[in-house]
Amino acid sequence: MERVQVTPRSYPTNLINKDWANRKHLYRKDSDHFLSLVHDMQLREDDVWVVTLPKCGTTWMQELAWLLLNDCDFAGALAKDQELRSPYLEFGFSIHGDVQRSFGPIEELKSPRLIKSHLPLALLPSKLWEGRHKVIYVFRTPLDHWVSRYYHGVTFGFNFGKTLHQYFDEVIADDDFATEIIEHAHEFYQLRDEPWVFYTSFERMKKDLRGVINDVSRFLNRPVDEQQMQKLLKHLSFEEMKKNPTTNHRWELAQVKHENARKEQHPFVRRGDVNGYKDELTPEQIERANICLQRVLEKNSVTMQELLLQSDP
Ligand code: A3P
Repeated sequence: MERVQVTPRSYPTNLINKDWANRKHLYRKDSDHFLSLVHDMQLREDDVWVVTLPKCGTTWMQELAWLLLNDCDFAGALAKDQELRSPYLEFGFSIHGDVQRSFGPIEELKSPRLIKSHLPLALLPSKLWEGRHKVIYVFRTPLDHWVSRYYHGVTFGFNFGKTLHQYFDEVIADDDFATEIIEHAHEFYQLRDEPWVFYTSFERMKKDLRGVINDVSRFLNRPVDEQQMQKLLKHLSFEEMKKNPTTNHRWELAQVKHENARKEQHPFVRRGDVNGYKDELTPEQIERANICLQRVLEKNSVTMQELLLQSDP
């Protein structure tokens, strides 16, 4: 899918002081109208957002947040595709080119709404920048994100027929891939102490899911007792989510129109590893990618350990 540079209608200068004019935002072609509607989107007081880059643990976090917001209604979660319980803002526009199919499902949702988006801070609704709505952000090791993105693209059709190595060489051909993921995360990382932002990482969820559940429960003001905690830990485990038909994005996949969609299918909840990229990419690819990533990290004065929350004691 062709992506072009887009200019946000305005910038969250009240939140982050940076050279916004030179922050490169890439998005699909012909999206000005959609992005303008997102910029002006009206929100409800109790809306909760899960914002990530694709393949960083969005579905995992959405499942947790939805359950907390819905009194641990496990039966309800198992009865309806996650995409219908917690809509993905860009989906209707991306797949059908139809803005109403993006906004409609969100407008129809009963409160409290849990909304998913992959948009960077400056392209999200400007109302969010007022800090009156809760936002959960999940970051993940960039190379795991890219490998996962490859398999997702094979299933959805646009990477069908391409090897992981071909795909990855294209991705790292310029620094844009590194800029996109690092700046996206760093902007939210800078907001991590704001009371309306909860910033975490896939790596932290793997290492201490109970700790993340406790943190999100406090953040959303939805306490859980030990019995609910046990059920959450089971429902959110890799094994359970892998076999759960409502968390494997079947509803979305059924709508993808690409001629190569569904020809080679990889499960959405696929491998779920930290550093799984090490046995999927070549050492040379890893080194090249890390050089680019390091350059962008330095430009942003942040380390990968900080973004992954691995530098905390
Ligand atoms: P892999 O493709 O590396 O396995 P997203 O929801 O943002 O698209 O992220 C999808 C990634 O999260 C996939 O990564 C998927 O396997 C992983 N994932 C989803 N649920 C998980 C869970 N309960 N435990 C571990 N990883 C999970």
